[in-house]
Amino acid sequence: MDDSLTANRDYWDELAAHHPTTDFYDVQGFLDGQSTLFDLERGELGGVVGERLLHLQCHFGLDTLSWAREGAEVTGVDFSETAIETARELRDEVGIDELDAQFVESDVYDLDLGERFDTVFTSYGVLAWLPDLDGWADVIDRHLKPGGRFYIAEIHPFGAMFGTVVRTEAGEPTDIDGDPADYVGTLAWPYHSDGALSVPVDDGSYADGDIETAVESVEEWTHGLGEVVTALSDVGLRIEFLHEFEKACYQQCPSMVEGDDGWWRFESGDDAPDVPLTFSLLATKPE
Ligand SMILES: C[S@@+](CC[C@H](N)C(=O)[O-])C[C@H]1O[C@@H](n2cnc3c(N)ncnc32)[C@H](O)[C@@H]1O
Repeated sequence: MDDSLTANRDYWDELAAHHPTTDFYDVQGFLDGQSTLFDLERGELGGVVGERLLHLQCHFGLDTLSWAREGAEVTGVDFSETAIETARELRDEVGIDELDAQFVESDVYDLDLGERFDTVFTSYGVLAWLPDLDGWADVIDRHLKPGGRFYIAEIHPFGAMFGTVVRTEAGEPTDIDGDPADYVGTLAWPYHSDGALSVPVDDGSYADGDIETAVESVEEWTHGLGEVVTALSDVGLRIEFLHEFEKACYQQCPSMVEGDDGWWRFESGDDAPDVPLTFSLLATKPE
């Protein structure tokens, strides 16, 4: 693993230690039986009963274990040792059999489980950590059965250009709790990154803006939709659909409000921007 990915992994180890305590992840709700999956992936991926499902970049396993509760036999993969340890502890705490939910500590690029799955799944906040989508698509293809399917629900690369750093009209960085009327959007990120972007992490994380980490900056990459589709089709997968949505899985901008369904949207009205914030894609591997 090169130095940039080592710094990223250290950062994710720190987040994985803290995220289970946040309201964002609501671990107690999960322990009480709630699914952490959105209606989007549950609806578009459909029934998974009896399927073998591989979850790439599973963080500390809540979504993986939610798929197990839906009847899939799951394998979650993440390069954070802390995340994988927590995922195993949560699995044991909710009484899911080890044979039904396995967790593997691995860099996504090094993954070679020697078995093929019915479904490969990944979601929300994964692509920005990957320098090379061709290598990523190879890993997906290597782990899919003929006839198997790959599904991703992800932050839209256009909406992501606005970043989470929004400044007042005076140009000063402000807290996300400030008055939304004071904010103007800025184009903070490129649509395609030509090499790694060094990103300071002093604003906390998407789950808790107050988290302080020893790691001060991470490396991220932006990937346009064309790059995603081309990487998957280049390994022979057939794109079944690519959907775009004006709702976000977290509060990307201060003027967004959370709906009862857990999605964040710009407040309705004539001024609400028409921006794609999430996309989902289903691809199948030919028989
Ligand atoms: C934003 S989180 C995914 C969150 C997930 N949707 C959730 O809410 O639980 C991104 C995950 O990618 C993992 N990750 C980043 N780079 C990775 C890599 N190269 N190989 C494996 N996992 C990686 C991180 O450890 C982190 O758990």
